[in-house]
Amino acid sequence: MNTPIPYEIVKQKIKESGLPSVGKATIREIVKLVNEIEKATGQKYIRMEMGVPGLEPAKVGVEAEIEALRNGVAQLYPMIDGVPALKKEISRFVKNFINIDVDEKCCIPTVGSMQGGMAAFLIANRCNAQKDTVLFIDPGFPVQKQQLKVLGMKHETFDVYNYRGDKLKEKLESYLKKGNISTILYSNPNNPSWICFTEKELETIGKLATQYDTVVIEDLAYFAMDFRKDLSKPGVPPYQDTVANYTDNWLMLISSSKAFSYAGQRIGSMVISNKLFSRRYPDLKRFFSSDEFGYAMIYGAVYSLSSGTSHSAQYGLAAMLKAANDGEFNFVEAVRTYGERARTMKKLFTDNGFKIVYDMDEDKPLADGFYFTISYPGLTGEELIEELVYYGISAISLAITGSERTEGLRACVSQTHESQFADLEHRLKMFRENHPA
Ligand SMILES: Cc1ncc(COP(=O)(O)O)c(C=O)c1O
Repeated sequence: MNTPIPYEIVKQKIKESGLPSVGKATIREIVKLVNEIEKATGQKYIRMEMGVPGLEPAKVGVEAEIEALRNGVAQLYPMIDGVPALKKEISRFVKNFINIDVDEKCCIPTVGSMQGGMAAFLIANRCNAQKDTVLFIDPGFPVQKQQLKVLGMKHETFDVYNYRGDKLKEKLESYLKKGNISTILYSNPNNPSWICFTEKELETIGKLATQYDTVVIEDLAYFAMDFRKDLSKPGVPPYQDTVANYTDNWLMLISSSKAFSYAGQRIGSMVISNKLFSRRYPDLKRFFSSDEFGYAMIYGAVYSLSSGTSHSAQYGLAAMLKAANDGEFNFVEAVRTYGERARTMKKLFTDNGFKIVYDMDEDKPLADGFYFTISYPGLTGEELIEELVYYGISAISLAITGSERTEGLRACVSQTHESQFADLEHRLKMFRENHPA
């Protein structure tokens, strides 16, 4: 078989990996397999399996963090609710880029949004003894379900693909009216599909959250990365879309990993609405000393998980946010390259017989950003990954993300440099020749 990566070596490495099916492998298993093949063949893959930021972190953050270390913060435990300089900048950031007012006390650093999610589940899913289940508006980030599994908590899920726009209300309500849903979680822009909810959809989610007294965890891991709009100017519309315009029952997770390319330092921001922060839920007393949502979050959840967030990283993030708030650092411009890459890469795939699986936000074509989704006629997602590996292209199956579109794959653009586009095109052409639709 004539494939861009020597067929026999790939076959051998797949066999050695012991994976029952490459198409069902987790992200990290694919990473390992492709590392092995690259090593054995000396050929570089178009690596689209993992959402690693592919850009340099903002200098202003790195410098501030080094300075904080020089000033001796490493010897001191950080305050659990965050250093005041950071709390102030998070609150300003939320006002400047989302146009939502929130008190500094409601802005809490976490060890990435990963920990923010875990802490949020610990509190939001325990406010009311009758409500013990998290609802995912999927597709989504698989690790969050893993977190619930570890916590012994229940979840329900539906793929939003067939329930966009006006159809969302009835579908969402069919879950909420059962009375067991404590929390709704989605990411926006969405990992893996890159759909962005419309204002109408966010209004639907917000109003139902109020009506059924449910907390919305809005996971903004790809903050301001809907590049169809210029969300880069502090205090100037348009702003990052949010459910916070339609309900008080919200909690946001703002990751620093992608928007600020700061994944390695494991710091993110949890922001809780002023009303939710001070709301009292007597049932929280089953687990925490306080029945106040915000107090239980800080001194119950975040304290138990890690006693706060790395001291120096807090100064790094504070400096980046301050520079963004003051209009001195355009963090959106710094990551816009992801959108440009996606535009070119999507075209290379569609020119060679692939289809984009999630392709519309109601009546608008999807934005180009960190991820996109692909399928190929006649192949399941599992078969497609297994085949693409021979062509030097790696991705993950949508099947592991709660998507019902099992024919699809998620492709991440962050690790594919422009200099590899010619290779990608060549490989896709060969794929098409060997797989006539
Ligand atoms: C949707 C979503 N939520 C959360 C995270 C985790 O973010 P962090 O690196 O801040 O822990 C990611 C990272 O890929 C993500 O895609």
